Amino acid sequence: MTETTYPPSADFKAKAHIDADTYASMYKASVDDPDAFWADHAKRIDWIKPFTKVKDVNFKFGEVSIKWFEDGTLNVAANCVDRHLATRADQTAIIWEPDDPKDDALHITYRDLHEQVGRMANVLKSLGIKRGDRVVIYLPMIPEAAYAMLACARIGAIHSIVFAGFSPDALGARVNGCDAKLVITADTAPRGGRKTKLKDNVNQALLHDTDDVKCLVVRRTGDQVAWRRDLDFWWHEEAEKVSADCPPEEMNAEDPLFILYTSGSTGQPKGVVHSSGGYLVFAAMTQQYTFDYHDGDIFWCTADVGWVTGHSYIIYGPLANGATTLMFEGVPTYPDAGRFWAVCEKHRVNQFYTAPTALRALMGQGNSFVEGYDLSSLKLLGTVGEPINPEAWNWYNDVVGQGRCPIVDTWWQTETGGHLITPLPGATATKPGSATLPFFGVQPVVLETESGKEITETEASGVLAIKDSWPGQMRTVWGDHDRFQATYFQQYKGYYFSGDGCRRDADGYYWITGRVDDVINVSGHRMGTAEVESALVAHAKVAEAAVVGYPHDIKGQGIYAYVTLMTGEDPTEELRKELSDWVRHEIGPIAKPDLIQWAPGLPKTRSGKIMRRILRKIAENEFDALGDTSTLADPSVVDQLIENRMNKG
Ligand code: WT7
Repeated sequence: MTETTYPPSADFKAKAHIDADTYASMYKASVDDPDAFWADHAKRIDWIKPFTKVKDVNFKFGEVSIKWFEDGTLNVAANCVDRHLATRADQTAIIWEPDDPKDDALHITYRDLHEQVGRMANVLKSLGIKRGDRVVIYLPMIPEAAYAMLACARIGAIHSIVFAGFSPDALGARVNGCDAKLVITADTAPRGGRKTKLKDNVNQALLHDTDDVKCLVVRRTGDQVAWRRDLDFWWHEEAEKVSADCPPEEMNAEDPLFILYTSGSTGQPKGVVHSSGGYLVFAAMTQQYTFDYHDGDIFWCTADVGWVTGHSYIIYGPLANGATTLMFEGVPTYPDAGRFWAVCEKHRVNQFYTAPTALRALMGQGNSFVEGYDLSSLKLLGTVGEPINPEAWNWYNDVVGQGRCPIVDTWWQTETGGHLITPLPGATATKPGSATLPFFGVQPVVLETESGKEITETEASGVLAIKDSWPGQMRTVWGDHDRFQATYFQQYKGYYFSGDGCRRDADGYYWITGRVDDVINVSGHRMGTAEVESALVAHAKVAEAAVVGYPHDIKGQGIYAYVTLMTGEDPTEELRKELSDWVRHEIGPIAKPDLIQWAPGLPKTRSGKIMRRILRKIAENEFDALGDTSTLADPSVVDQLIENRMNKG
């Protein structure tokens, strides 16, 4: 097999922070003596009281405990804002590009950012928010989202961002889940030329038992909104009542910085808890090295702050490094499929980081949308969220990067806080489709799926686990440490289990093959099949549902739902649409099934467990690969499902 590899160009290598030799020696140091390595690298942030202890970690199931820099104190907002004032007060911290290209972009300097964050922090205090309280942020991609995050960090409140595309129910569940005292939202949010009624959604979410939750509302569009008397406050009015001066709270390294809900294979989404000190060190270090960020560069990560990518690589990593970070309110296809490249040209973007699903969608629109723009400022391209197919990789490389820009395919997770497996662009020869090699301090292992035995040969295939901790690792599931242990440390003892399958090639490169659990990856967003199922069965006409992923050209994976109706209900086209809209309404647009197949029965074992393996194969049209069906309670349901699949029923 011939495999194309792309070594770093001599030019790139010469200017890079890390070349191949440095990578090798630093990596070795990071695993030989993690304490010394991280004690040194933790100096990249400012500590109020320096730590004396670096790492205190136990991965043993039943005793899992993860602490980094545990006796150090710091303030994350002071690290992301105040400490840059001496040297970069007039430098742009955030470039904000609005949804509509006809509206003006904003250039927010570090001085401006300091003022806004201080004001927001004082507003939070005036609304009764104290250190340790939870604040839910349900905002579009506007600068106030950054102010809100940093304001929480400044006073030691814990933020939990809920992606603005989530439904009122999903929002309500998260507000309750972390017992938030305040929701920060906007009136309405323009995106791709359409508007989402965020404040209305908040009103619906807070209707029930949470009606003492306050709401701070940013006026984005000026649209009319319904007000909850005594509980709702306009940000622009409150901001005028307070000063911009708010001294940063001295926080412990292990105090939670934020909670971010993410889907798992079972049950409701879990609140991933990240720390202050370790998280910030890791986010900042990966932002600098993975993207080879240099002072003065313009960095653009296209994610939404509602996902971890936005936390680490729009806000915390770049701002801790004193970078200029671009925040984009819109979508890649509005007003047309050239928007990303128009923004790159307009703001002279140097590093551009996006998801394979966006690239596939844009690639399908043709090269003419790229070719009209001057992309000469681009130095590096990155991807995240799902495996990138070589076709999309090549298009990114040839058409967007014009063969000039290294591509970093970064593998990580909400749980990991930052990149774990990724090329370093001045050091690593890349191979299209491989996330390549571990970041400093990260020790990936490939385990045999069944036995859990570590495969020591270089060439290996199995499940991906990590041997030891890194500073950016999540610390617990909010309010449920047992679930944390059960999810990540129980099945494969002594390791952090990622939930992904992978292959390691003869060069030691890692190729992520996708989730091995009941989680599906739709357009780089994680969706639990159980969540979609419980939304479906909540519909009065649905008796039972089973959801699996199937290959989808643009989204990577699509959502395929098998639905058994209540006796007497007719399987009509209208009902199919009704159920799709229902899920959209219950969870949000990202959870909407792509295909619904009527299932008179589901393949179950005699003990009643649904055999998803079979459902996956049927969804993939691989009827010959169903495997053993003899243990089914009623093997004939399989024939019926296949027949329905072929008749598109
Ligand atoms: C899952 C994590 C981390 C930010 C975005 C998603 C998949 C992520 C890659 C990649 C192949 C990838 C994995 C992982 N994934 N990056 N470069 N190559 N797969 O965060 O929602 O926590 O999802 O996304 O399956 O487990 P997330």
